[in-house]
Order: sequence, then structure tokens, then C-alpha cells
Amino acid sequence: MSINILAIESSCDETSAAVISGGKILSNIIANQTVHEQYGGVVPELASRAHQENIVPVVEAALQKSGLQKSDLQAIAFTQSPGLIGSLLVGACFAKAMALALDIPLIGVHHMQAHVLANFIEDPKPRFPFLCLTVSGGHTQIVRVDGPLQMTVIGETLDDAAGEAFDKSAKILGLPYPGGPLIDKYAKEGDPKRFKFPEPQIPGLNFSFSGLKTAILYFTQQQEQEQPGFLAANMPDICASIQDRIVTILMNKLVKASKETGIKDIAIAGGVSANSGLRNALTHYGEKYGWSTFIPKFEYCTDNAAMIAMTAHYKYIAGEFVGWDAIPSARAVF
Ligand code: KG4
Ligand code: ZN
Repeated sequence: MSINILAIESSCDETSAAVISGGKILSNIIANQTVHEQYGGVVPELASRAHQENIVPVVEAALQKSGLQKSDLQAIAFTQSPGLIGSLLVGACFAKAMALALDIPLIGVHHMQAHVLANFIEDPKPRFPFLCLTVSGGHTQIVRVDGPLQMTVIGETLDDAAGEAFDKSAKILGLPYPGGPLIDKYAKEGDPKRFKFPEPQIPGLNFSFSGLKTAILYFTQQQEQEQPGFLAANMPDICASIQDRIVTILMNKLVKASKETGIKDIAIAGGVSANSGLRNALTHYGEKYGWSTFIPKFEYCTDNAAMIAMTAHYKYIAGEFVGWDAIPSARAVF
């Protein structure tokens, strides 16, 4: 009999539910929260309320689309960490209630591990060991993956995440939140070599993006002072140059990690892996260095429950369940 699991993701501002059967995703429903746009960032309290409002219809829709009944489920999975605590609590409480009512076990999932395993939703899948550059709004990591549940972080950001670098740069440019996708959109029409932003000299496999943000702030202030209207007139070139710098910072460390470990199966994951500049760069570097490269389908890059379901599938096989006293954590806990 196939393993059927319902998974819930509620770590930030997306309420999502997915159903997986025998390792195959049957449904993946995502409700985006638009309430945060007017505040220029995610407001935790509003996110919790929106999760509370959305969770029942999202779960119902995921079940309906899967064609399975509640009675067909063998486990309920939820994102346990990291994330906004009020948001995580909504998913955790709902998952517990449902698992208790159906008398089936509960699986707690690490959100960043799930981003990596988004690469296993569709074929071709990376072979072990592989490296995964996990880039989201809250994290930037290079992960060495030796098995579905065996992951080691070998490099990470010392300050801002790559997604934050995109979003904060966009804010400086006066673009609405979340600015990452907008920078990507403008960058498509711009010249990436027109403006040079600095590459931080951080030893090893770690990253830093806070200096870049400051450089962009000074650059825009100075240009706008000298030439009012400069920003609006040069938006595509500025966005393309910012994107090019963020992407080269990421790719240079990935090249270093591949050289140091000898691993040539290279994947990307997380919200920023939706970025077209990063996707193109991975393919391009892959050809140059003889890598096999893996990028999840667009809808599995940003936050979604399908990746939680995929991780839960492996955890079910490994017998990794959590008790009724499981608590979510804002900080990453493996
Ligand atoms: O993984 P994710 O959906 O949520 C977190 O776990 O943080 O990532 C969200 C981040 C945001 O910073 C957003 O601006 C960024 O991913 N992002 C992008 C693009 N799409 C999403 N950044 C650059 N280009 C994109 N196309
Ligand atoms: Zn995420």
C-alpha cells in the first residue's frame, strides 16, 4: 500500500497544503498573503491571522484535488522550524488536531531540509552526495547532501540572506515588497555590466550581503543627488547590475565548494532559485565545470507544502515521527 501523507506549510506568509502518495505529489495548494504588501514586509501578527483564516480551505482543496479521502491518510506532516513562531503554531496546532482526530502519526519537518528535497519531487533527481545552494528570504546556505535526511551545512551567510539582499535592494530603489521578483523582471531588460557593485571578501564558503546593501544605498543616494530622476530612468540597468552581483557572489562560492568537495551534482533550492539570472548562471556554470545541475520547478522553489510532503515521505520510511508534545521553533532545529 502506498504511503499517503497530508503536509502543511505555514512558516512565513504562504499557507500551503499538499498530498503525497507513494512519493508522488498529488496536489499542492498555496494561498499567498497579499496583506503585507502595504507594509513593505511580512507583519508576523497579520501572517498568523491569515494562516488561521486560510488553513481549512487550503487543506480541503488539497485533499479534494488529490482524489483521496481523509481516511486514506497515514500521517500528517507540518513545518516545525524555522520560521515565524505565530505562523508555525497555526500549522502545528492544525496538524496535531487532524492527526489526533484521524488517529494517525505526526511528522515534524525542517523547512530548509524541505527546500533541498524539492529537488526530489520531479525527475531527474540529483545523486548522492550532491551540493545544494539553498537561497531564501531567511537563509543562504551551501548544503552537502549525503542522503535524503543526511545534510550538513558547509557554508552560510554571516548577515543578510540572498533573498533579503534582493528585497532590501528593491526597497532602496523604491520598489514594493517582495522586491526580489521585481528586480528579476527589470533585470531582464538591463545591462548587468553597467554598474559595478563590490564583491565581499569572505573567507571559506560563507557569504555576506550587508556590505552590498550599503553600497547600493550610497550609490543611489549619490546618483539621485547629482542627477534627480536617475533611478527611474535607469531601473533596468541598476536591477541587472545588482542581480548580476548577487548571482556571482553565490556562484563563486558554489564553484569553490564543488572544487573543495569534488562533488559535481549541484542543485539549487529556495525562493531565490526562482530568479532567472541564478537559474541561467547555474546552467552556464554547469556547462563550464562539467556539473550535472538541478533546479526545482518554479512552484516548488518558493514556499510550498509539496516539499514538506516530500521530506515527510522520507521521514515516514525512516520511522521519524514526533510526539503530541512537539513544539515549533522559530530557530532552525534539526
Ligand atoms: O523560500 P521563500 O519563498 O521563503 C522563505 O523561506 O524565505 O523565499 C522568499 C524569498 C524572498 O526574499 C523573495 O524576494 C525571493 O525569495 N524571490 C526572488 C525571486 N522570487 C522570489 N528573488 C529574486 N528573484 C526572484 N525571481
Ligand atoms: Zn522557504
